[in-house]
Amino acid sequence: MKRSTGPILIIISLLMDAALDSQLICSHQPITALAGEDVILPCHLEPPISVSDETVEWTRPDLDPKYIHVHRDGRFMFENQNPSYNFRTRVFVDELMTGNVSMKIFKVKVSDTGRYQCALPSLQKEASIQLIVGESDVIGSDKPVTVTVGDNAILPCYLEPPFDVRTLTVEWKRDGRFVHISRHGKDYLDLQDENFRGRTSVFHEEMIRGNISLKLTNVTELDAGSYTCNVPKLESQVRRGFINLTVEPVENRNKGDQTDDISK
Ligand SMILES: *[C@@H]1O[C@H](CO)[C@@H](O)[C@H](O)[C@H]1NC(C)=O
Ligand SMILES: *[C@@H]1O[C@H](CO)[C@@H](O)[C@H](O)[C@H]1NC(C)=O
Ligand SMILES: *[C@@H]1O[C@H](CO)[C@@H](O)[C@H](O)[C@H]1NC(C)=O
Ligand SMILES: *[C@@H]1O[C@H](CO)[C@@H](O)[C@H](O)[C@H]1NC(C)=O
Repeated sequence: MKRSTGPILIIISLLMDAALDSQLICSHQPITALAGEDVILPCHLEPPISVSDETVEWTRPDLDPKYIHVHRDGRFMFENQNPSYNFRTRVFVDELMTGNVSMKIFKVKVSDTGRYQCALPSLQKEASIQLIVGESDVIGSDKPVTVTVGDNAILPCYLEPPFDVRTLTVEWKRDGRFVHISRHGKDYLDLQDENFRGRTSVFHEEMIRGNISLKLTNVTELDAGSYTCNVPKLESQVRRGFINLTVEPVENRNKGDQTDDISK
C-alpha cells in the first residue's frame, strides 16, 4: 500500500504542475463580425491539458447577469445565463480534452459587442477577448444607370461601411426574378431568369471590400427596369439596394455622336 502512494502522488503533482504551467490564451486581436454571422471566440490552454472535468465560465462583466456560457459537470448550465444569449452559445465539448475552450456565438447582434472573460476557476486561469459586431447597409444608386442596346452595364451596389461579403450570399433580382446569385466566390445560376443567361457577372475579387456590383453584357431593351441587390443574411436596417436601368435604343447613340460632331 505504502509503495503505491509515491507514484500516485508524483503523478498528481505532475498533473498539477502541468495545469499550473499551462497558460490560458485568447486572441489578442479583437474578433470582428457582421451582425447575423456566427463567430468563434478562440481561447485555449498552452501547452494543452484536458479541461473536460473543469468548469469553464464565459462571462461579460459589464452585463447583469454576466454569465454567457457556463460548462460544468460535463454540461451547459442554463441557469443564470444572460437571456439575450439564450440558445445562441456553445463550447466545443469534444475539444475541451485538448484545452480548447473556445466559445461560439450564433447570429451575433450589435449589442454582443464587448469584452468577454473566459475563466477556469479551479485552475485559477482567466483571459479576455474583445468582440466587435458591426452593421453595414446595402447601397444601390439614386440615379438610374443608362446604357445603349448592345453595350455593357455595371449596376453599382456596395456595403457601407465596407464589409467582406465573400462568405455571404449575394442576390440580384429584377421584378422578383433572379438575375444572379453568388456565394463563397462562386456563381449559382440554376434559378437565373433565362433572359440573363451567360450575360451576368459579379466582381468576386471586389467582394472583400463589399463591392457587389453586377455586370450585365450585351444589354437589350428588355433588360430595362428596377433591379435589387440583396445580402439576405445581413441583420442591418438596409439589406437591399435599388438600381434602375434605363436602356436607350441604338439610334439615340447615333444622334448623340452627331451632336458631338457638330459641337466639335
Ligand atoms: C478550437 O475549436 C474550434 C471549433 O472546432 C476551432 O475552430 C479552433 O480552431 C480550435 N482552436 C484550437 C486552438 O485548436
Ligand atoms: C426606379 O423606378 C421606379 C419606377 O419605375 C421608381 O418608382 C423608383 O423611385 C426608381 N428608383 C430609383 C432608385 O431610381
Ligand atoms: C466595384 O467594382 C467595379 C469593377 O471593378 C467598379 O467598376 C466599381 O466602381 C466598384 N464600385 C465601388 C463602389 O467600389
Ligand atoms: C447581343 O444580343 C443580340 C440579341 O439580343 C444578339 O443578336 C447578339 O449576337 C449578341 N451579341 C453578342 C456579342 O453576344
